[in-house]
Amino acid sequence: MTIAVCPGSFDPVTYGHLDVFARAAKMFDQVIALVGVNASKQALFSAEERVRLITECLPEGSNVRADATDGLVVDYCVNVGATAIVKGLRGGADLADERSMALLNRELTGIDTVFVLGDARLEHVASSLVKDVARHGGNIDSFVPPAVARALKKEFQ
Ligand code: PNS
Repeated sequence: MTIAVCPGSFDPVTYGHLDVFARAAKMFDQVIALVGVNASKQALFSAEERVRLITECLPEGSNVRADATDGLVVDYCVNVGATAIVKGLRGGADLADERSMALLNRELTGIDTVFVLGDARLEHVASSLVKDVARHGGNIDSFVPPAVARALKKEFQ
């Protein structure tokens, strides 16, 4: 059985992330959407809340599940027997950021990162921008599923 890990902050999960999970789900038997700690970001939602939101947004019978770690993504991968890390790319800027992380992760464990191009119609969708729109009372319905929109509205009401 092939297992892949899709790590990210997912603060919160967007339609862009869900598109990447769905693409990974076609390539691997089991996919874990892994909430990790990005030391350079201050999260709005707790890791537990982010896992809950991802889980709520996954389709029934999906081979994707959500989990969290406060350790290294590669350590988590080794523990669950994952053979690949999958990350979505929105454009060249994403690759510049992801390249060193992928090389480092491979040097640590030999686990390769598979880069997936997401739906071009979602290229502009980023959690940080969605939070900014929500914070100012804008409409975020085309960027995040209803459960996430509700959670964001609650945070900023
Ligand atoms: O969605 P993001 O913010 O780009 O996700 C970044 C994340 C959480 C995947 C990255 O910061 C990460 O892997 N953090 C976990 C700790 C770790 O493994 N660090 C080494 C990365 S080379």
